[in-house]
Parts: sequence; structure tokens; C-alpha cells
Amino acid sequence: MEFFLDTAEVEVIKDLNETGLIDGITTNPSLVAKSGQNFFTVLENISKIIDGPISAEVTATDTAGMIEEGLKLSKISKNIVVKLPLTIDGLKACVALSKKKVATNVTLCFSASQALIAAKSGATYISPFIGRLDDIGENGLDLIQDIKSIYDNYKSLNTKILVASVRTLEHVAKSAIIGADTITLPPKVFMEMYEHELTKKGLDAFLKDWAETKQSIL
Ligand code: E4P
Repeated sequence: MEFFLDTAEVEVIKDLNETGLIDGITTNPSLVAKSGQNFFTVLENISKIIDGPISAEVTATDTAGMIEEGLKLSKISKNIVVKLPLTIDGLKACVALSKKKVATNVTLCFSASQALIAAKSGATYISPFIGRLDDIGENGLDLIQDIKSIYDNYKSLNTKILVASVRTLEHVAKSAIIGADTITLPPKVFMEMYEHELTKKGLDAFLKDWAETKQSIL
């Protein structure tokens, strides 16, 4: 499973990339606004750190504008993935950019039928927002399972499932059980993946017992 970080905070990306586990980055206009940085500077700086896919979202809402913005963004670095909203204009832009071999991430997906039409439009990634579905009383993970079943039914659909709007470790583990290709993790959730109360407790006990032996490995 590919691990992306869902953040536009360059220092956080630099720090967490030291784990050797970060395969890519997703940003969105809200995350860029939260960073307080210039969009292009953020993307250039991330591309100096990360070799894998970096999603950068268009803000035009018409097809021609999205294509123009997408082409401009894709020139920043070879690993930029143009993020397009799941609207009819967004999917028309997806078809056009796919034909030009520009990688795309279709975002704001909330239904299986949306995921199907995005894949048919040639999306490189589909981003189902599972946390936001949970927020309205639906089960976001059910959507991941449905999309996985649909994509597995048709070998001609090569779109990768990029689980987005991730809030919990259950989201992470269940997405992996379903077999989602990629997950984009808020930095806090990524760090939580290392943790378990019993790991800490067990290590404390081992170290205490070891100290009593008065031995040293080195
Ligand atoms: C994904 O690409 C989006 O940036 C993100 O996962 C949205 O998450 P949110 O619902 O927590 O804002």
C-alpha cells in the first residue's frame, strides 16, 4: 500500500520523510491556505523532498480553465499529479489531460458511480473522502469496498484507489484489508500508526528487567 501524506506543511513533510516510508503527497486549496505559503513555492519545495506523486489541485471550475491550470501545474515538476474535482467539467478535463499523458487525481468522490465515471475518464487516482462520509452518518469504508469491487470487475480500469479524508487507524487498517492501492494520511494519523499502549508498556518492562542484569550488548 502506498502511503501519502495529506499536508502542505513542507517542514512536516521533510521531517516525516526521514522515516523512509512516504511515497507521495496530497495537497488541496484548504491545506495550502492553512500553510500560509505561496502555492507554487510549496509545490517546488515539496518536489525537492519527495520523488513520488505530489497532488496539486486546480481552482478553475470550467474544463478549459482546469486544463490550462493543470498543464501549468504539471510543468512545476515531473511528479506533479493534477487534482481535479469530480464534476462534469472536471472529468472532461481529466479525459483531455489523460490523453496528454498528464497524471490526474479526481477528488471529492462520495459515491461508487462517481468512482466508476472517473475511472472511465482515465483518472490515475480516485480520491474517495471517507471521513466526510462518516461525518454525515454513512460508512466511508463501505465506499472503498464498493469501488474496489467495481474496479476489480473491469481490467480495463486502471485507476488507483487513493483513500482520502482519513481520520482513524481503523480507516487505515480496513482500507488495507480491502486492498486500496494508496492512502493519504494526515501527519497525526501517520504517527499514530507506530503506537500501541502495550508496546510502550512491554518495552518499559523489558528495559527495567535488562537493567537488573547489569549486562551490555555493546
Ligand atoms: C485528499 O486529497 C484531501 O486533501 C483530504 O484527504 C481531505 O480531508 P478532510 O476531509 O480531512 O479535509
